[in-house]
Amino acid sequence: MPLSMLNIHEYVSLKSYTVFKIGGPARYFCEIQNTGELQEVVQWAKARNLPFMVLGAGSNVLVSNEGYPGLVIRLLMRDMKKRSENALFVEAGASMASAAHFAVTHGLGGFEWAVGIPGTIGGSVFGNAGCYGSEMKDVIERVTILDTSTTALRHYSNTACGFFYRHSIFKKHPEWIIVGAMLKLFPRDSAESNSLVRKYSKTRAITQDIGSQCAGCIFKNFIPPDGGAQVSAGKLIDEAGLKGTKIGGAMVSLKHGNFIVNSGNATAKDVKQLVALIKEKVKSAHSIELEEEIRYIG
Ligand code: EPU
Repeated sequence: MPLSMLNIHEYVSLKSYTVFKIGGPARYFCEIQNTGELQEVVQWAKARNLPFMVLGAGSNVLVSNEGYPGLVIRLLMRDMKKRSENALFVEAGASMASAAHFAVTHGLGGFEWAVGIPGTIGGSVFGNAGCYGSEMKDVIERVTILDTSTTALRHYSNTACGFFYRHSIFKKHPEWIIVGAMLKLFPRDSAESNSLVRKYSKTRAITQDIGSQCAGCIFKNFIPPDGGAQVSAGKLIDEAGLKGTKIGGAMVSLKHGNFIVNSGNATAKDVKQLVALIKEKVKSAHSIELEEEIRYIG
């Protein structure tokens, strides 16, 4: 099928599709509305031996200034349906915030914490996103994926998803595309849920850079090899005296050490150099090797 019929565009800047507002062009780019269209564009890329990838909210990625050499797919599949008194089905392209609000207004509790996560459902399942003591692992009943190697749709139960801290089985299978998830919640009065939403939003606004051009936490928290308590990477970076450190337009947030803010015209190279500097300084201050939570594209 021709590019135009599949709505595939060429050389589309990815900058505006990332929260960092950094990144070069996708060689090919498309936005799809349903799994049928998804199957078609994947077939198109495979027939041309092109790499392809799904971009969620662009909140946990750093796109290089050279861009991406294959097809970038944005999922505009955002349907949500309450399936029972304790189940909510959400398509992968829906934002965490809209799913959290939908749950609240439909009398479903247990997902209020997700309101401030700047990602999509698909991206959050992929990275087992979490905050305030909860993570996707706690609410996933099952995940639906498109296996692009066979074009079959498959379901993965919570245990089959292999969730652990900021990890899922989907990170090991780039050929699988998450298309939706069934969330297991519980009945809760909307007023009660709303007060939790306000509490979480307030805390986040005080402690993190809401609304600025930054990609969530850059590093995973440190988990000691003996399985001891998690250590906040932000705290380690703060204690190493790095808040406010700048390379080009990239700056370590003054609010939370684990955030890098694009303070204006930062390049991917600026961010990468700052990431390397943070790793080096934290290693010499604490003898701890930080590991990135963000993904590099291109
Ligand atoms: N702290 C500092 N300085 C800093 C940052 C934190 O002293 O610059 C201290 C705080 O005062 C607090 C402790 O470190 O005593 C923990 O801080 P916080 O509550 O902010 O939690 P975190 O461990 O740094 C994690 C997640 C966040 C999530 C928050 C809230 C990771 C990598 N980060 O941060 O998730 O929003 O908890 O639950 O797991 C993300 O993953 O993108 C993310 C932002």
